[in-house]
Amino acid sequence: MPHLVVPPVIPPRPLAVFTTAPDRQIRFSRSNVRADEVAAVMEALHGDHHAGNGAFTARCHQRLEAMVPGTRALATHSCTGALEMASLLLDLEPGDEVIMPSWTFASTANAVVLRGAVPVFVDVMPDTLNINVDLAAEAVTDKTRAIFCVHYAGVGCDMEALQALCDRHGLALVEDAAQAVGATWRGRALGGIGDIGTFSFHASKNISCGEGGALLVKSPEHMARAEMLWEKGTDRVRFGRGEVTAYEWQTVGSSFLPSEITAALLDAALRNEPTKTARRVAAWNHYDQQLRAAGVDRHLVLPDIPADAAHNGHIYHMRTADQAARDALKADMARVGVEVTTHYQPLHLTPAGLRYGRLSGPDDVTVRASRTLLRLPMDGSISRDAQDQVIRALLTVLPA
Ligand SMILES: Cc1ncc(COP(=O)(O)O)c(C=O)c1O
Repeated sequence: MPHLVVPPVIPPRPLAVFTTAPDRQIRFSRSNVRADEVAAVMEALHGDHHAGNGAFTARCHQRLEAMVPGTRALATHSCTGALEMASLLLDLEPGDEVIMPSWTFASTANAVVLRGAVPVFVDVMPDTLNINVDLAAEAVTDKTRAIFCVHYAGVGCDMEALQALCDRHGLALVEDAAQAVGATWRGRALGGIGDIGTFSFHASKNISCGEGGALLVKSPEHMARAEMLWEKGTDRVRFGRGEVTAYEWQTVGSSFLPSEITAALLDAALRNEPTKTARRVAAWNHYDQQLRAAGVDRHLVLPDIPADAAHNGHIYHMRTADQAARDALKADMARVGVEVTTHYQPLHLTPAGLRYGRLSGPDDVTVRASRTLLRLPMDGSISRDAQDQVIRALLTVLPA
């Protein structure tokens, strides 16, 4: 007879709401779920609609559409899923080419490779680490179908230049706005400027429901198709609205929707978006002001934000002169109790990037960023004390 192992009851940990304590190890990022977000999950759990596309999901859609005017939204299980939906909506086919920065996460490229299309990687701008539009223009061929731009660190790409390039060649413009929830470019919400936008609500992002994302589309035709892709290629969403008497398999699709339990957390987190973003931007500004005042910009390249971009404080990054200096700084910071982290590998140099994609033009800025960039601890609950500890640590380990 197998033994029934009853796990011990673990008393709930008090919630970490704005409580990063000073004088101890500062982690790169901590979760910061608020009490009303926990309450929303409990409400969903106590209800009897746990599958997807219920009342919480509908509220997420309303909030997203209000945040990004001119779009229709569908919550997804991840930004990865939303990017895959974008590739399906664009009917990407084997041999099609999609231009994107090499400085991005695997999901941007996977989404097009899953359709048999080829990611054509280009270098990024030295200031923002966003796609270099001139290099994107040089990468256009008669096979190019779309540009997937990435708003790195929640800082907007040059959207007018990208849109003009896409218009010139009849290309679709997809915004991978995984990091850009709550950020704007020339006053317009990122994720809602191109034809299609995608958000991430992964635990590492400003607004989190653990794993989650959203697709934002502008055209009614895209929305009608996206609803079917979302629900296993069926017209179940229309059935739910009473528009058809039964739902059927209509087209190729998958299951991209979150459960109501996840949607409840997302709904509450989105309700808190203004204060979460403001708090994050304030923390970002504190780092920036203090580090510049201390002259750290003499040793390290600090972020350079274009005047047209109102960012969301997602990442505070800094770049060293070379890789040896970066690795030494990372190790020194770890020794004094502060976790700082590197970021992307140049995608075109990864095993899958070499197999499925190709580089167009130079790659200097991307390669250099992957070797020299560090991100300081940042999350929605980091305290001033913790930030000051990070700053003191940095000033201690940097050469005078
Ligand atoms: C630029 C970019 N795109 C896509 C993703 C994937 O997001 P998700 O984890 O929600 O699938 C990430 C994740 O960090 C990202 O940074």
